[in-house]
Amino acid sequence: MFDIILYQPEIPPNTGNIIRLSANTGCRLHLVKPLGFSLDDKQLQRAGLDYHEYATVKTYENFEECLGQFSGRRAFALTTKGSTKYSEVAFRRDDVFVFGPETRGLPVEVLAQFDENRRIRLPMLPTSRSLNLSNAVAVVVFEAWRQIGFEGGV
Ligand SMILES: C[S@@+](CC[C@H](N)C(=O)[O-])C[C@H]1O[C@@H](n2cnc3c(N)ncnc32)[C@H](O)[C@@H]1O
Repeated sequence: MFDIILYQPEIPPNTGNIIRLSANTGCRLHLVKPLGFSLDDKQLQRAGLDYHEYATVKTYENFEECLGQFSGRRAFALTTKGSTKYSEVAFRRDDVFVFGPETRGLPVEVLAQFDENRRIRLPMLPTSRSLNLSNAVAVVVFEAWRQIGFEGGV
């Protein structure tokens, strides 16, 4: 299934929701430090409910260490600055998705590592700034999973 990378996530309930989503869909979750919370945080635990045991969650000291795990795989950066709409991409079962922190988004030096067609955005009304992180993850994962026929799902 897909791999989800959260770059320096800040808000515990968002990561908790994404842990639960990962358990629901079979995605693996990768967290790039520094994190804005401890993995023992009560709000994170509550949002993830008891799904932690069903999700694979790994942490990394920096982005290079994390991305290095996925050489040879396609990685997409999710950004409001992307020019490719998520619905225009033909996703594959081993794709990797990278998301930015809630208050800052992905920094330019991280975005620079992705070709333009690998920087993808979710359409919004022109007056909107961005979607909630966990909502953005859910939209992309479900579109990618839909495209591969909800493989493994019932
Ligand atoms: C709350 S948003 C970050 C907001 C930040 N101020 C910005 O402008 O990027 C957190 C993350 O969710 C993802 N995201 C939110 N809305 C998105 C959109 N419309 N298209 C693509 N990614 C989005 C991105 O990965 C973003 O870094």
